Amino acid sequence: MRKILLSLLVLAVPAAAAAQSAEDIAGARIGYYRLLGHEMSLLAAMAKGDVEYNAEKAAAAAKDLQTLTQYSVSDLFAPGTSNAELPGKTRALPVIWEDMAGLGDKGAAYVSAVEELNGVAGNGLDALRPAVGKLGGTCKSCHDDFRAKDF
Ligand code: HEC
Repeated sequence: MRKILLSLLVLAVPAAAAAQSAEDIAGARIGYYRLLGHEMSLLAAMAKGDVEYNAEKAAAAAKDLQTLTQYSVSDLFAPGTSNAELPGKTRALPVIWEDMAGLGDKGAAYVSAVEELNGVAGNGLDALRPAVGKLGGTCKSCHDDFRAKDF
């Protein structure tokens, strides 16, 4: 058993070393944004009243979004990973690579909305609602310019 596990491990290593294909990078990028979507879906459901407001859970989701702002996304936007190069695998529009500064501006607006949300998420539904609305606006604003409607 041990031997089998060991040889599986050895087999796995070259695969890992050869990672970082354009498709893998796009996959990691999508994974990162799905984490934002995961946290946001709870916050949006609370804001809409579909899920009962819970101060602890709202604050935790906001904190997770804040933690994710510490992640440096720049290497997720490696050249060669747009939907022109990887059709069907990503929604990242080629315009991103022509306007990284624009993407950065949208990112900065997003980060400040996350900070604002963190200040109020645990303070009741009336405080949460506008902050979630504002945050959602920053997601949409970036998607409108830089994300394709579909894969
Ligand atoms: C700075 C720009 C930017 C901001 C801000 C941003 N996104 Fe995105 N998002 C993107 C791009 C670009 C993609 C496409 C990634 C890909 O397909 O490679 C994406 C993809 C996604 C996906 C993956 C969907 C899919 O196609 O499976 C989700 C979910 C998502 N974003 C949610 C959010 C949420 C929620 C927020 C705000 C809380 C947000 N994003 C903020 C740029 C942004």
